[in-house]
Amino acid sequence: MFGTIMKKDDNYHVPVLLNEAIDALNVRPDGIYVDCTFGGGGHARELLKRLGPGGKILAFDQDADARNNLPDDERIIFVPHNFRHLQRFLKLHKIAAADGVLADLGVSSHQFDEGERGFSTRFDGDLDMRMDKRQEFTAKVLLNEYPELKLHKLFEQYGEVTNSKTLARIIVEARKTSALDTIADFKNAVYGIVKGNPNKYFAQVFQALRIEVNDELGALKDLLMQVPAVLKQEGRVAVITFHSLEDRLVKVFFRQGSFEKVVDEHDLFGNAGSKSLLQVITKKPITASEKELKNNPRSRSAKLRVAEKK
Ligand SMILES: C[S@@+](CC[C@H](N)C(=O)[O-])C[C@H]1O[C@@H](n2cnc3c(N)ncnc32)[C@H](O)[C@@H]1O
Repeated sequence: MFGTIMKKDDNYHVPVLLNEAIDALNVRPDGIYVDCTFGGGGHARELLKRLGPGGKILAFDQDADARNNLPDDERIIFVPHNFRHLQRFLKLHKIAAADGVLADLGVSSHQFDEGERGFSTRFDGDLDMRMDKRQEFTAKVLLNEYPELKLHKLFEQYGEVTNSKTLARIIVEARKTSALDTIADFKNAVYGIVKGNPNKYFAQVFQALRIEVNDELGALKDLLMQVPAVLKQEGRVAVITFHSLEDRLVKVFFRQGSFEKVVDEHDLFGNAGSKSLLQVITKKPITASEKELKNNPRSRSAKLRVAEKK
C-alpha cells in the first residue's frame, strides 16, 4: 500500500531545510533514493510525496527508535544500520545504482530529548551517547579509559574547547577516585574549570564526546567515498551538516573527490586537476530562511551542499 501517511510522532524531529533538500535532489517519480538518516522521517515523507508508484526509498538509521516512524508504504525499505555500509546494503537489496542520496547528519531532537540516552546536558543520565545501542563503546567507556592526551586532542579538535588540556587532566584526576558513570558525576568533577557560559561550555564538550562515541566523521567519510560509485549519471547527493568539521569534509570531497589537501589543483599541463566524479551544484551552502530560523532554532547551524554525478 502506498500513499497512506501513518501516525507519526510530531515531537520526534522537525526536519531542517526540508524543501530545499528535496528540491535539490531533482526527484524523478520512478527514481530510487537513499535517505541515509531517516530519523523522524520528515525528509523521507516529502520524498514519498514526489515519487510515483514505481519510486523507491532505502532508508538507513542506526537508531532502532527511528523504525517507529516508518510510514505504511511499501515504497520504503528500512535499513537499521550505519550508512557507512551503503554499498553493501544497496547490493543486498539488488539496487545497482541510485538517483539520489540524502544525508541529514547528526542526532535527532528525539535523541536529545530522551534524558537516558545521555546526549543532552539538560538531564542527568548514564554517560551513553550511542546512536546505535548495539555498539559497546559509550561515553562512559571513553571518559574512564581514554589516555589524557587523547582526551585533550578530542576536546580541542571536535569541540574547540579552549581549556581542553586542563579538562583532560581534571578528568584523569577525578576518575582515579571514582568512575564517572553519569552526566552529573562528570559535571561535578569538572565544574571548577568550566570557562565562560557553562551551557555553552558543556555543549561543546558533549559535541566532542558524541562525535567520538559515534565515529561521526569516520562514518561520513566512508559514506562520501561510496557516493560517486552508487549514483547514476546526473544523480544527486545532498548533505545537511551542523558543524564546520562535517561541512569541511563535504565541501572538500565534492570539489576534489578526496579528503587530502590538494597542493596544486593543476597538473603538469596546466589542466585543472580535480579528480572528483561529482559536479558541485551549490558553490555556497544553502542555509535556513528567516522563517525557518524563527520557527526552528536547530536550523541555525544547518548547511546544505549538493553535487551531481558527472
Ligand atoms: C538529524 S536526524 C535526521 C532527521 C530526518 N531527516 C527527519 O526528517 O526526521 C539524524 C538521524 O540519523 C541517524 N544517524 C546519524 N548518523 C548515522 C549513521 N552513521 N548511520 C545511520 N544513521 C545515522 C540518527 O540516529 C538520527 O536518527
